[in-house]
Amino acid sequence: MTGSIVLFGPPGAGKGTQASIIVDLTGKPQISTGDMLRSSVSKGTELGLEAKTYMESGKLVPDQVIIGLIEQRLEQSDASGGVLFDGFPRTIPQAEALEKITNVSAVISIEVPDDDIVSRIVGRRMDPETGEIFHVSFKPAPTEIQGRLIQRKDDTEETVRNRLAAYHEQTKPLGDWYGERGLLIPVDGSGTIEEVGNSVEAAVKSL
Ligand code: AP5
Repeated sequence: MTGSIVLFGPPGAGKGTQASIIVDLTGKPQISTGDMLRSSVSKGTELGLEAKTYMESGKLVPDQVIIGLIEQRLEQSDASGGVLFDGFPRTIPQAEALEKITNVSAVISIEVPDDDIVSRIVGRRMDPETGEIFHVSFKPAPTEIQGRLIQRKDDTEETVRNRLAAYHEQTKPLGDWYGERGLLIPVDGSGTIEEVGNSVEAAVKSL
């Protein structure tokens, strides 16, 4: 398959957790706008300074900033056979801009009720050395690395509520937009990490 795949879903649905299955099956590189923005914030670039306030309050970063970031990333040679987008597009204007620069072949939508999202996000921890995502209850890290785990600044209960509100207002309608185009593949994201992984794998193999 030459086109790109979009991994879609609410914050904390498990997009980052499941992305490696799709990367392994398709060989497409993962492009996470959240990771790219966090890298810019930690380097203190102009873009990072602009994005920081939005991210820490749980609001979406303006479309033009994100679209510019993606346009630049897609110019790199590893993107020529299509990529896996994780956390992008998140608005209809972002999807319309994407249509002009790459062909999207499928949108895998991980669907999780709001009630499960808060506990997933508040318990998330990340290994800064490997980027691996853990959870204090659902995916505990090995004891020897627990001391170096970090918690994202936007993973507080208050910010999660804002992120969910932004999802329902600005991002969820995009799921319907892709559904109307026959590209949306819904996956039940409410099971265990392994169960959701099996469903994601089946979805990719059906393409
Ligand atoms: P971003 O980094 O994209 O955050 P997000 O969409 O809110 O998604 P997350 O990374 O929080 O969740 P995830 O679905 O990857 O879940 P994970 O696998 O980690 O964006 C951050 C911010 O950047 C945005 O708020 C915005 O400001 C900005 N931004 C980024 N892209 C943008 C764009 N395109 N436009 C505008 N602004 C943009 O899992 C979560 C936790 O749950 C983990 O601890 C995991 O172990 C656990 N878990 C996963 N699956 C399960 C399961 N099945 N059962 C139990 N626990 C599970």
